Amino acid sequence: MKFAVLISGNGSNLQALIDACKRGMIKSELALVISNNNKAFGLQRARNAGIKTMIFDPKKYTNRQSVDRDMIIHLKQEKIDFVILAGYMRMLTPFFIKEYRRRILNIHPALLPAFKGVSAIKDSLTYGAKVTGVTVHFVDEKMDHGPIILQDSFKVQENDTLKSLEARIHKLEHRLYPKAVALFEQGRLKIKGRKVHVLAQPVLKSS
Ligand code: GRF
Repeated sequence: MKFAVLISGNGSNLQALIDACKRGMIKSELALVISNNNKAFGLQRARNAGIKTMIFDPKKYTNRQSVDRDMIIHLKQEKIDFVILAGYMRMLTPFFIKEYRRRILNIHPALLPAFKGVSAIKDSLTYGAKVTGVTVHFVDEKMDHGPIILQDSFKVQENDTLKSLEARIHKLEHRLYPKAVALFEQGRLKIKGRKVHVLAQPVLKSS
């Protein structure tokens, strides 16, 4: 299978996925990296790994759906089977989600459904959460909402700062995301309503 990663910034999760592909932990081909932001450092990471990159600058389109329509055209051209969001700071439109339903994964730096949104690490710290963590989930039409694939957690320490918490969250993300992608490509994730069952054996698809 072939997959694309959508980014907007640093791309440390992208790097973890590139490394997991190199190690053979992920067998699918990371064929395309897309960004809405031409200054995203993740683009450089992709180029260093010899991965094709594309930029879809929202300013060049009249509305959100036309951006997504264009992206879908290119994803199909590249025969992309599934899409990984890794710090992509835009909501996908229902049009995009319909095209790749149950084939879009996202990572969120908190234990959903707590602390949705763009400042989850800061929000959990200022809220005084004693435990925090990372969630990998399927993407649906609502923000940070789809069925949960994997979660992992750790205790927030008394002396944790935003910086120290970010560092621990990212470390956990870089472990969890490749694991989730590997389970997905092996056909071991079965969605039933809101629940995702992780199967010991892959589901055999009848043709
Ligand atoms: C990560 O914390 C991820 O959970 C969130 O955005 C951040 C992206 O970081 N969705 P990076 O660009 O992968 O370094």
